[in-house]
Amino acid sequence: MTAIPKTAPFEDEEIELLNRVVGPATPLQRAWLAGFLAGVEATEGHSSALAPAAPPAAAEPLTILFASESGNSERLASDLAKIARKNGLKPSIVDMADLDVATLGSTKRLVVIAATWGEGDPPARAVRAYGELMGDAAPRLDGVEFAVLALGDTAYADFCGVGKTIDARLEALGAKRVVDRVDCDLDFETPAADWIGRAVKALAPPEAGRGTVIAVDFGKPGAAARSEIVEAEIVEHVDLNSSRSDKETIHLALSFDGAAPAYEPGDALDLYPENDPAEVDALLAAAGLSGDAALRAELIASRDIATLSLKSLETYAEQTGHQYVKKLIADGEARAWIEGRQLIDLIATFPVVLTADHLRAVTRALAPRAYSIASSRREFDDEAHLLISAVRYTSHGRDRKGVASTYVAERLKKGGRLRVKLRPNKHFRLPAADKDIIMVGPGTGVAPFRAFVQERRATQAKGRNWLFFGDRQFTHDFLYQLEWQEALKDGGLTHLDLAFSRDQPEKIYVQDRIWQRRRDLVAWLDGGAFFYVCGDAKAMGKDVRAALVRAYAEVKSLAADAAEQAVVALEREHRYLTDTY
Ligand SMILES: Cc1cc2nc3c(=O)[nH]c(=O)nc-3n(C[C@H](O)[C@H](O)[C@H](O)COP(=O)(O)OP(=O)(O)OC[C@H]3O[C@@H](n4cnc5c(N)ncnc54)[C@H](O)[C@@H]3O)c2cc1C
Ligand SMILES: Cc1cc2nc3c(=O)[nH]c(=O)nc-3n(C[C@H](O)[C@H](O)[C@H](O)COP(=O)(O)O)c2cc1C
Repeated sequence: MTAIPKTAPFEDEEIELLNRVVGPATPLQRAWLAGFLAGVEATEGHSSALAPAAPPAAAEPLTILFASESGNSERLASDLAKIARKNGLKPSIVDMADLDVATLGSTKRLVVIAATWGEGDPPARAVRAYGELMGDAAPRLDGVEFAVLALGDTAYADFCGVGKTIDARLEALGAKRVVDRVDCDLDFETPAADWIGRAVKALAPPEAGRGTVIAVDFGKPGAAARSEIVEAEIVEHVDLNSSRSDKETIHLALSFDGAAPAYEPGDALDLYPENDPAEVDALLAAAGLSGDAALRAELIASRDIATLSLKSLETYAEQTGHQYVKKLIADGEARAWIEGRQLIDLIATFPVVLTADHLRAVTRALAPRAYSIASSRREFDDEAHLLISAVRYTSHGRDRKGVASTYVAERLKKGGRLRVKLRPNKHFRLPAADKDIIMVGPGTGVAPFRAFVQERRATQAKGRNWLFFGDRQFTHDFLYQLEWQEALKDGGLTHLDLAFSRDQPEKIYVQDRIWQRRRDLVAWLDGGAFFYVCGDAKAMGKDVRAALVRAYAEVKSLAADAAEQAVVALEREHRYLTDTY
């Protein structure tokens, strides 16, 4: 945000004060402020130019459809609804999980906010409706006005793929695009807020939205629930793998000086990492900028120095004019070259004299990483626990380290401090106390289930709890082993099924245990149990679902189609819940 200039009609201290408030404000907070001041002006009769538009007598309906996994699109949908309401529209927010695709044909105005997950996939809850929208039975959408906002991450090959596909599909079905799609990277707040303003303006009835300021109302309950970054002290930092394991999974207990975020079991924390100074030094050396201490500090604290995307390659080519990089892009080989590489590979392979501004231009802001909360506040009042697996691998002959996970594993210690922010997940909640739950959480996927079991114990919930856990080896990788065994004894767990993939010649995974236990499992589900899956989205999430479909087919003698529908029914009833990443 540009600072308020010294020439503004305020005293110096007032300008400083305003900068302190407005500087860190989010785009929507600024929009609210603009709307508020314009409203004050209008009521006091000083000016009419900035008056927010008065809502028309009868508001026009607007459907806001969102496809979200970790809540960003959902939050933007709710932001958009508030602004739309103030501008002559009557918004209804629809989760794609609940969408009846046939109803889209009767919509007049449609806004879609869609995230891309996996490797270009829709968010898990949106898979069914997304498939139907792409299928032959999708309705014609002639007469529908629409706009699409796509959320994604330029680090992925299929950047904003789902938003792009939906945008093209709506047009192909006859709908009329009224605002061009915007594809947002991880720092989506500003482009999303701009796009929301334009979309509302384009879709609002003519008599509304004519003011120069879009009116924003944050006064409603719930809107202010957006959480703040808080600092926590690390009170426990323990590697749960044995010293002979080839993995390192840190149990991190955070304490909040009496101000723990109001989290629920199923929520996550966004963790704000710093880059490894050694990696920053290597990058600066490759760039010939080793002497720049200010740049070094900036890169450590706030720039993503690892991600290499098509966008960063294009920026590098543009800024430096490097012929080989330009050729790589022109020949259509850039995507393949990026695979497994990072920014340092680009600079080391295609060296050129770089300035600090070049480096700033090819890096984006360092984004926080999400970690499921592994504790219940009912048991650990002022604490939140995380379970973090250190990411380390080798590619193109270079050892690589995950930014946040190795920041935690290698550079944070007990007594240190850490910045986090609550990331609520209202779609991954415990059911009523008398309902049974089945939890499938291999590796770090077990984290939220530790919170679930603690919560159910603390509330003396009557429902039964069944955990499927897996990892590599029983002896070295059984995360929270003693706690689970204790829970089996005290009734916190009714069943514990374990799958250690490397303890025998053939690999055994949680989905194999699900298959073995299919009869009891289907009986629990028939009795109303809730089924939860957390952890790896690439293979595990899909394999577990497929195993459950096969289980239904076999236990109930159903055809494949009918078994699939049985699982779809669980999803529709919100009894099959996933939190995969
Ligand atoms: C809602 C949610 C909850 C989560 N909960 C947890 C949790 O409880 N515990 C947990 O540990 N993690 C969890 N994660 C994942 C976590 O957010 C981070 O993505 C993870 O820790 C890696 O972050 P990093 O900064 O260490 O790695 P980054 O610096 O982000 O690097 C990761 C990237 O490195 C690349 N990479 C990784 N391994 C390889 C390989 N073998 N070969 C080639 N490339 C590779 C991939 O491009 C990958 O995207 C969760 C994610 C989400 C979205
Ligand atoms: C495991 C994982 C996979 C992702 N895959 C993609 C992808 O293939 N393409 C993309 O553009 N973004 C991808 N993203 C980025 C998300 O789309 C982005 O974080 C978005 O803001 C999430 O929005 P949501 O909170 O509404 O789900 C991925 C993110 C994660 C954590």
